[in-house]
Amino acid sequence: MKHPAVPLPHIGMRVIKTAVAVMVSYALFLPFGLTYREELGGILGQMGPLYACIACIICTQSTLGQTFRQGISRLIGVVVGGALGTATLLLGPALEHFWLKTLILGLVCVAGVWLCLLIKRPTACGMACILPCVILITGVTGVTRYYYAAARMIETIVGLLVALGVNAALPDHRPEGERGEIDMNVELKNTTRKLCVIGDPVGHSKSPLIQNTMLKALGLDYVYLCQPVPRGECKRWLDCAKFAGYAGFNATMPHKEELVPLMDELDGDARLIGAVNTVCLRDGKAYGYNTDGEGFLRSLADEGIDPAGKKVMVLGAGGASKAVCLKLAQAGAEVTVCNRTLDKARAICDHDPEHLHPAGFTPEELAREGGRCDLLVNCTSLGMTDAGGQFEDFSFLDRLRPGVPVVDLIYAPAETELLRQAKKRGHRTSNGLGLLVNQAVLSLEYFTQTAIDAAEMKKRIDAVL
Ligand code: ATR
Repeated sequence: MKHPAVPLPHIGMRVIKTAVAVMVSYALFLPFGLTYREELGGILGQMGPLYACIACIICTQSTLGQTFRQGISRLIGVVVGGALGTATLLLGPALEHFWLKTLILGLVCVAGVWLCLLIKRPTACGMACILPCVILITGVTGVTRYYYAAARMIETIVGLLVALGVNAALPDHRPEGERGEIDMNVELKNTTRKLCVIGDPVGHSKSPLIQNTMLKALGLDYVYLCQPVPRGECKRWLDCAKFAGYAGFNATMPHKEELVPLMDELDGDARLIGAVNTVCLRDGKAYGYNTDGEGFLRSLADEGIDPAGKKVMVLGAGGASKAVCLKLAQAGAEVTVCNRTLDKARAICDHDPEHLHPAGFTPEELAREGGRCDLLVNCTSLGMTDAGGQFEDFSFLDRLRPGVPVVDLIYAPAETELLRQAKKRGHRTSNGLGLLVNQAVLSLEYFTQTAIDAAEMKKRIDAVL
């Protein structure tokens, strides 16, 4: 049998950036003769490019933000290791005894890594902490030890600044659209419970990254996967998921409606919206929830917006719009649903004619409704990366009263043209990240029956997206 050829590894921009950063770091030290020379004395005599180069190798990441976060971890690690090592030296004569010194060394290393775990920075921080600690205790002696510790910190700072500078100067090696596989760095045990997102297509979904980030931060023994399920195959998938012992799954396009009649029990919002995006499997039964609408209301609350009694202009009448409109109406808002296909706006409004009113999508209608509203929410796909399509003109934004917030459900790009134009006109704006995170937190609360701190999770998710 002929085996397919193994592809050669690809040298990407991150590798090039790392190499450039290492070269710059080295070049910063060597021409000035800063290479561990005792005759120089003090900190200068202990200085060298090694720690700066290590910082460049570890900290140069795909993006500036990631490099910064990794860099801070490494810096904290070096400071923790330096402080622990220095504190250990105060033990004085105890360190003269070989076996006692060995024992102390082990204990101090454990303490250093434990401190890094305590502040939830296990990798770069833990690694960075051990070396200065070990060398302080076992290596150089006398007052030189303290110069040594200070030199490692200075070198780390130099390396980090170089890594940040190189990252800022050279392009991000993975533009959004080209991102392929994502290493979610999950830990699996034989007790790990399975969760996933189903869709068709589903490979682009951010849910695995978001959910695995939260599961890891919360220390919950679950893994979240990505499962393509063709349209019309939800029944078969549900049987498979039950058989395979899944704890639950999320659903995205085009399964949200198809799942409704397949549930053993439906919660209020899933029934109201007529769509299920979260399924919990317990004791052979399927429980269907919809977290989109509530996630949206929570994201408004995070922005300090209370929709009760407000006039809201919603653009679009697709699935996302339906969840948003029905929950806004339930929260006491008066909503105008503006859509290119008027019948789809009418169909949503039929659910609650007292609070929901249909309208068209012509420039005149948008301008008229814009002048009346207290809040504008975009639920169309206009402005979304890869979806194509853009608003033909933004003149309706000129009609918004000052201070009217503009919300876009789109999160890629982070700032759509609509939000940019609204911001230019002095309006407060927010993108769809709040909804994405809040609906994911709600889903995870249903899956794991654990209360979750959404604000803390938002910080974690912001860091990985
Ligand atoms: P989702 O499930 O995310 O809501 P959807 O159901 O495909 O996605 O809805 C997309 C929305 O964007 C619809 O309201 C769609 O309008 P139509 O109902 O008339 O199709 C709207 N939309 C997409 N492209 C548009 C365009 N070029 N101009 C105006 N509206 C557009």
